[in-house]
Amino acid sequence: MKQFDFRSMSFYQIWIRSFADGNGDGIGDLCGVYSKLDYIASLGVDGIWFSPIYPSPNADYGYDISDYRNIHPDYGTLEQFRQVLDRAHQLGLKVILDLVINHTSDMHPWFLESRKGKDNPYSDYYIWRDPKWKGKTRLPPNNWFSQFEGLAWEFCPERQQYYLHVFAKKQPDLNMDHPKVREEVKGIMRFWLEMGVDGFREDVITYISKHPQLPDGIPFLPAINGLPFYKDGPNLLSYLREFRAVALEYGALQIGEAPMTPVKTALTYLAGEDRVLDMMIQFDTMMADCFMTEYVHLPFSLPKLKRAFSRWQTALAGKAWNALYLENHDHPRVISRYGSERFWRESGTMLAAAYIFQQGTPFIYQGQEIGMTNIRLGSIDEYQDVATINAYHRFFRHQSVKKRLQRIHRSSRDSARTPMQWSSDTYAGFSAVKPWFAVNPNYPDINVQKEEEDEHSILNFYRKCLKLRKEIPALLRGEYREYRPLHRHLYLYERSFQSEVVLVVCSFSAKEQRWKLPKGFPEEKGDLILGNYPGKAISGRLKPYEVQVLRYHLPGRDS
Ligand code: GLC
Ligand code: CA
Repeated sequence: MKQFDFRSMSFYQIWIRSFADGNGDGIGDLCGVYSKLDYIASLGVDGIWFSPIYPSPNADYGYDISDYRNIHPDYGTLEQFRQVLDRAHQLGLKVILDLVINHTSDMHPWFLESRKGKDNPYSDYYIWRDPKWKGKTRLPPNNWFSQFEGLAWEFCPERQQYYLHVFAKKQPDLNMDHPKVREEVKGIMRFWLEMGVDGFREDVITYISKHPQLPDGIPFLPAINGLPFYKDGPNLLSYLREFRAVALEYGALQIGEAPMTPVKTALTYLAGEDRVLDMMIQFDTMMADCFMTEYVHLPFSLPKLKRAFSRWQTALAGKAWNALYLENHDHPRVISRYGSERFWRESGTMLAAAYIFQQGTPFIYQGQEIGMTNIRLGSIDEYQDVATINAYHRFFRHQSVKKRLQRIHRSSRDSARTPMQWSSDTYAGFSAVKPWFAVNPNYPDINVQKEEEDEHSILNFYRKCLKLRKEIPALLRGEYREYRPLHRHLYLYERSFQSEVVLVVCSFSAKEQRWKLPKGFPEEKGDLILGNYPGKAISGRLKPYEVQVLRYHLPGRDS
């Protein structure tokens, strides 16, 4: 079946637990989603990506799945999901689900069976290894670390063996080398595709093929010791081909999450008609203020961010297609990172234009479109995320409580998981009762209702960006070119198609900046089609976090 045109589309990501509570129990759910579908459509997006909505013990909030063919009772029923799906389709929105198949929950029936012994049908569904012995001391099979919780191996007394978990202990890795496991994956894909789902966002899909020998890693950064032996592994391409065949029967979209995959490797999955993934969630652009993980802090560097943007823009040009994002449920809020809470509206709007007008399919994470910012909770006990809690207790254990909390405030994924701020009503209009997780106290100022009423709000700026992107061929299909890559405060890029050129000028500075048009752009010919300060833009100067989007007709460019 023919695939739909995902290149012209944009997506909205829902992390359901914090999106909208429809039945008044303090937890977001499908009823809540249903009631907000018109709002989502009003943004001008064309699809929704749902983070996991399946039954899960929530060791990693949905990314530990205990039943792949059902809906978490907190969120509703399969019937309610069908209603959401139908209504979304009526509104012209595609729906893609999260496919989490690197690991399951340790409460998944497969694992409950597998752990019982070496001779049941599920024994080889997971990655089991005998201990290593040093005299009488029992040691794990290798020195890998998990990304969330200490060593990557957990001993199971019943089997007298260790199982591998690259993430939390309650997320055992599946053994994808087992043909039956791959058949299970295909069965799960078909189940949802038959129902009418339009594709998948595939969770850490580049981790599913492990190095057959599971060799020791070189200790470097503890949390990723072992990564080279489970990332982009030897059979990955062939497994992805098998899944691709299923997706293509339905014309389904496949977006792969690929932490730390370099762009050259990415092209082996993304390029050409026989590609195995349509787009990739890369991590380069999330590293402009940190090293490898958000918990190793560095000062924000605009040149580093621009290098990441331009690396993916140029390497994929004409060969593959980018997924564009600045936020999702795994990263702190972008205004608090790359922008400025002080220049909240200015930086929130500037950041929108900085990425949406690049070549690719933009993803917008719930709350990003109204400029939600990081929460700063007073104690680690108020946090929920396994990675956050682990970082606090493990990596920073020698630092003072104050210092540790500061690091959590800056780095935690929970900052992006606070309830969506719908209005200035109690609990931000998210729920009638106390929500499952803290509401950001800034909700009276930052909320959908307030921003609906303000023409210059971040919300309406997102709408304008998405609309322009669709209207102007240069923004949708044009070539990308960056100017002044080394400038420490300005990001300048153009998109050009035939004689039409759109220049996007972004200031990442809290101070006024002077700038000059690049050669070949005659001042008098430019049309300011979007900006984030009222009134006429002053040429040659940018106010704090100002963005100017200028449109040119430059005959001569198309030759
Ligand atoms: C992905 C998900 C993240 C999850 C991890 C393990 O990175 O986006 O939320 O914790 O995989 O499933
Ligand atoms: Ca609910």
